[in-house]
Parts: sequence; C-alpha cells; structure tokens
Amino acid sequence: MKRPTVRLGGNPAHTWGKVDNDPSPLKEEIRRQFLPESASVLDLHCGLGKMYREAYEGRVAYYHGIDNTKVFDPRICTIQDNSAYVMANDISRYDVFDIDAYGCPWQLFYRVMQKAKQPRITAFLTDGAVIPRSSVSSHITLLQSAIEHLPRSFAVPGLRRWYIPMVATMLRDVEKRFGYRTVRASWTLNEKGTVYFWVVILDSVRETS
Ligand SMILES: C[S@@+](CC[C@H](N)C(=O)[O-])C[C@H]1O[C@@H](n2cnc3c(N)ncnc32)[C@H](O)[C@@H]1O
Repeated sequence: MKRPTVRLGGNPAHTWGKVDNDPSPLKEEIRRQFLPESASVLDLHCGLGKMYREAYEGRVAYYHGIDNTKVFDPRICTIQDNSAYVMANDISRYDVFDIDAYGCPWQLFYRVMQKAKQPRITAFLTDGAVIPRSSVSSHITLLQSAIEHLPRSFAVPGLRRWYIPMVATMLRDVEKRFGYRTVRASWTLNEKGTVYFWVVILDSVRETS
C-alpha cells in the first residue's frame, strides 16, 4: 500500500497552544513556529506589514513583499499583482512563500509550485474562501472542479465537510505534477471557524545531477 505523505490536522488549542478571539495571533504564531533557519521570504500579500513586523522582521535572512494596492516600505516591497510577479520573476532565491489572501490562496500556491526548484518549500496560507466559510454553499470552485475531476456545475451537499480531504487531494496533485513530497500540512482555524491558517512544507523529490 502506498505510504500516505500528507499529514493533516489542527486545532487552535492543541496545535498551537493558544486560543484567542483575534485570529491574527494564530496567524503570526504559525509563521514563527515553522519559519526555517535563515529563511528567504516572498510575502505575496504584504499589505501594511503586520506579518512582516510580527513574524519576519529580524528573524529572516531576506524578505520581499508584494501587494497590488499598498506596501509598507518601498525598499523591500513591490506594488504589483502577486500572480504576475511570480510568473515574471525568478523566485528561486525564496524558500518561504506567504499567501495571506482574503479569499482562496491555492491558485497562487500552484503558480509558485509550478516554478519551484528549491529543495524545500514552506508555504503559509490563509484560506477564507467560500468552501471553508460557508455551511450552505454546495458549489465547488474552478480549482476544485479541476482537481477532483468534477463538472463545474456539480453541487456537493455539505461541501464544507469535504474541505480537508479536498486540500489533501490537491496536495497529492501538486506532488505528482511538480515533483515534491508533502512533509507537513497543518492547519488551525480562527475563533469563528471561518478562516483556515495553513502551513505546508514540501521537499523536492527530483533527482539532482
Ligand atoms: C489579508 S491582507 C494581507 C495582510 C498582510 N499580510 C499583513 O500582515 O498586513 C490581503 C492583502 O492582499 C492584497 N491583495 C489582494 N489581491 C492581490 C493581488 N492580486 N496581488 C497582490 N496583492 C493582493 C490586498 O491589497 C491586501 O493588502
């Protein structure tokens, strides 16, 4: 039997040892806890730099922030669409990708993985999109339709309950497509249970010549 490579799980109280009404301490905590040594960070939703100040400043070897509307320091940030930035630039110097989206972070994660050649990738992702948030919507997203090979019009009653297995399927798809193995996929939730904070760590399984 094939060995499962994706380890999933998370609970604010147990995983991070912290319960808080404000979701952002968990967001920062997950970053601080899993930040590799001498990290080189590409923060793809840097905004006004809260994550930078709380998790990265003084803790990483290199940092660059991207945001399409506002940045906190033009010397270390670029105003641009994050997807366009990833596609147009060499991202090989980065080993940490921060995808702190308002909505779905996974399409941008695919873009990053499509270009990745680094031996290890650590991604911090915020998923507040429709599937994790809604207890009523049964409509799958475009990405899920592609990954699960389901018609776009397909309605899945209780779709939210399948969110974690869907992410697991997606990570296996990423492994197969891009030559990586998931060594950690952990999540925790904000207090309302509406936003997932993920850390995903993948190792390259490509032969190095
Ligand atoms: C949840 S906030 C991020 C907060 C930030 N990480 C912080 O710690 O302050 C999401 C950010 O993504 C930016 N954003 C939304 N769509 C984007 C895109 N396509 N490209 C780049 N930035 C985008 C927004 O301007 C916003 O600042």
